[in-house]
Order: sequence, then C-alpha cells, then structure tokens
Amino acid sequence: MSVHKEIKKMTTRTLQEMKLAGEKIAMLTAYDYSMARILDEAGIDVLLVGDSASNVMAGHETTLPITLDQMIYHAQSVVRGVKRALVVVDLPFGSYQGNSKRALESSIRIMKESGAHAVKLEGGAEVVDSVKRILTAGIPVMGHLGLTPQSIYKFGTYTVRAKEEFEAIKLKADARILEKAGCFSLVLEKIPALLATEVSQSILIPTIGIGAGSGVDGQVLVSHDMLGLNNGFHPRFLRRYLDLHNEIKGAVQKYCTEIKSGDFPNSKEQY
Ligand code: KIV
Repeated sequence: MSVHKEIKKMTTRTLQEMKLAGEKIAMLTAYDYSMARILDEAGIDVLLVGDSASNVMAGHETTLPITLDQMIYHAQSVVRGVKRALVVVDLPFGSYQGNSKRALESSIRIMKESGAHAVKLEGGAEVVDSVKRILTAGIPVMGHLGLTPQSIYKFGTYTVRAKEEFEAIKLKADARILEKAGCFSLVLEKIPALLATEVSQSILIPTIGIGAGSGVDGQVLVSHDMLGLNNGFHPRFLRRYLDLHNEIKGAVQKYCTEIKSGDFPNSKEQY
C-alpha cells in the first residue's frame, strides 16, 4: 500500500469554490524554480509569474521591456518548482494589446512552452476581444484593473486609481465586462478599499487585491517586496514579512570576513 499523500492541485474551479465558501485566496509572484518551490511548499494558492520580473529580476524601471520569450523562461522555471499552486503568467506589454490574434498566439506559446495554467492581461473593455479569443483555445484568463503598470506612460504616476467618480464607474463596468467575457478572476490594484469591496460583491468571480483593502477575495504581493529582498519600495499597502536584503547582506559580509580571516573552510569542511 502506498503511503504517498496525493497533493490536491489548485485549479480555477478551486478558486471559485473558495470565493463561494468565503475562504481567502493567497497569491504571490514567483520568477524562478527555487523560490517557487519554497512558496508552493508553504501553501500558496496561486503563483503569478508577473511581468514585475522586469523590475525585480532585470532591474528595469518599468514592466514594459520584458519580452514574451523572457516571460516564458521565467514561467518554465516556476512550473518546475510547483506541485500544488495554480501558475498564472502575465502576458507582457506588446504581446496582446490591440490584436486578439496575437493575444491568442502569445497565450498558446506560454501554455505550450511553459506548462503554466492560465494567463493574465491588463485592461477592461479595450482588451475584451483578446480575452474572448484566448478563451476559445480553452486558456483561462485572469483580468487586471485599477493601476495597470503597462500603461504607466499614459497615466504618468503610480498613485491610487479610480478615486474620481468617472473612473470608479468605468472600473465597475470593466469588471462586469471581464466577468461576462469569461475571466476566471480579477486582480484589483491600488484602488480605494470601498470600491474594491463593492466590485468584489457585485461579481461572481474571485477578486485578488493589491493595495485594495480587505474586502476582496484574496491578496497578492510581489514576493521580493514582502520578503524585503527589494528594500527601496515602501507603499502603504505593503507588509514586510522579512528583511532579506539585510539578512543576505549580513550573511555575505560574514562569509567574506571568514574567508579573509582563514576561518572558512575549517578542517571539517574539506576532504
Ligand atoms: O506583475 C505583477 O507582479 C503583478 C502584480 C502586482 C499583481 O501584476
């Protein structure tokens, strides 16, 4: 008899059931195998291979430069580290906007070449044709409203979105449009908590907030921010669970000192 405990994999359906049961969804970003393994073992529900890799992995100022090939490389690495979590991959800037055929082709490449489970794209009514076309191939789509970093040059700032009545009305309409088009979930980024709660209660698919308060169905953070690997970013919504920047720096300083003093390696650390 096998003593192997079977792992119940997360699916888009599980997320829907969690919303119905009032169970919150925990999501983090991941870009590589080792980190994905740790986050998955820790019980994270969803791993997002975010285009924030452009910032935190490649050091770019915005998410715009990252390419589809680079996203696929990150997604392949994450998928190899995961046993349970649902893996969602961002469609990068330029791989879907204004062209639903390209959106479908980009999504098919992500799914085929990485083994990920779903894609995410930014925007509302303006991307609905792409959402519908991707869904024709049976690829689950997560939407993303509010602060949409791929449009940073249109807005010019990373401040809270939809504070004005007209923006809130458009965001609520976009959420309904994306739900109707077939998105399985929506990220709501940096919008007033009351608006995020209202949206979450008005649609049946789960909402995942980042800087959107507690009335949403789940939360996402960039793992480099919440683990303190990236210590130059201090928005109000960010809770830091570790200070890895200084932990790693301290460990490396100790390593350097111990090499230079002749303490490392000692007699037990050699053959
Ligand atoms: O790319 C990313 O990390 C994201 C999250 C902030 C939701 O889209």
